[in-house]
Amino acid sequence: MNNLILLLLILTCSIATDHALANEPLGTPDIEDMVLYDDEENTPEEAALGKILFFDKRLSVNFKQSCATCHHPKKGFSDGVAFGEGTKKNPLGRNTPHLYNLGWGSTFMWDGREPDLESQALGPIKSEDEMMLPIPELEKRLNAVPEYKRLFKEAYNVTNITSLEVGRAIAAFERTIYVDNTPFDQYIAGNKKAMSKPAIRGLALYKTKGNCIQCHDGVNFTDDSFHSLGFKDGDIGRAKISKDQTQLGAFKTPGLRNIELSAPYMHNGSQATLLDVIEFYDIGGGGAKHTDKLIKPLNLTQQEKKDLVAFLQALTQPLNITAPKVP
Ligand code: HEC
Ligand code: HEC
Repeated sequence: MNNLILLLLILTCSIATDHALANEPLGTPDIEDMVLYDDEENTPEEAALGKILFFDKRLSVNFKQSCATCHHPKKGFSDGVAFGEGTKKNPLGRNTPHLYNLGWGSTFMWDGREPDLESQALGPIKSEDEMMLPIPELEKRLNAVPEYKRLFKEAYNVTNITSLEVGRAIAAFERTIYVDNTPFDQYIAGNKKAMSKPAIRGLALYKTKGNCIQCHDGVNFTDDSFHSLGFKDGDIGRAKISKDQTQLGAFKTPGLRNIELSAPYMHNGSQATLLDVIEFYDIGGGGAKHTDKLIKPLNLTQQEKKDLVAFLQALTQPLNITAPKVP
């Protein structure tokens, strides 16, 4: 009898753990939950300075490229092409991701090689593929501009600008690039008219037959984890960083807020439209041996495909972010 009670206890516990591992509910992100640097709130001065840096072509070796060249606010903070090019017109190996709602993220880049926004920001500046500017040269350039001296003093109380503050300011700006009042947010807040009928059906499919919620869950529609959709393009993705062969071809699950604005899609830019993305999932992904077991043929009807697209479009809230004056 005692053994039976023990068995029951073990069973209940394992059910409870399974539940904890289940998907996070969809919802509206809370600013209080953003991941911050040293737990410190960003100030408006930092974010305003970061915005100027984001648009400043001084951050590239030949003064031709800013962050916004590739992550353009008018192109969903991406560049509208499958593969962009670096400041010397060299072709890039992966698609430029959007930057929406990254303030809640815990891993960055398609393969998750950067742990926070602060360290990520310096990557493209010094990268041999992108802006190609050595960090000492970056610091020299910024220290030579009196207006930057003033702005960095105001934001960080420093007289000598270093890359540390550059990363912090850019990250502070990136945390302001978010949407939390899309038709979907209004709908779940109780305004049943905020989403169209197809979008409402799409939301239901997203959680059931479409299986999307298995990976695109939580308030920003991402599990911040890595999965392989089975592309056969030779990019091993996360496995290169983790050295874990079970992560061959796995990439970070992108958040889906404002996803309508940043076509084409996937790490290789292979899907031109949201309908193409759905068709790709419908046939069970790219078919490589390392495809995640959560990816299976979906047998969606034409109407269901359109409904899913309508739902993804209900995650759109255009932001009006324009280029500031660069000193
Ligand atoms: C030449 C084009 C280009 C420029 C310039 C560029 N990026 Fe990127 N960015 C990319 C590409 C491509 C990736 C994905 C690369 C990868 O994952 O291997 C990326 C990834 C990112 C990510 C990760 C997004 C995510 O969802 O994980 C952030 C954040 C980012 N860039 C911010 C910046 C900032 C800040 C700057 C300026 C300092 C910048 N980028 C300059 C092309 C560019
Ligand atoms: C097994 C986890 C998983 C499932 C299930 C899944 N996705 Fe994804 N999704 C990902 C990953 C990982 C990527 C990026 C893959 C890559 O680039 O190789 C992605 C990419 C996308 C993109 C492109 C995003 C961008 O910025 O390029 C869209 C849109 C998308 N998924 C929507 C959906 C929808 C809709 C469903 C349900 C029909 C779905 N996903 C099911 C993990 C998943």
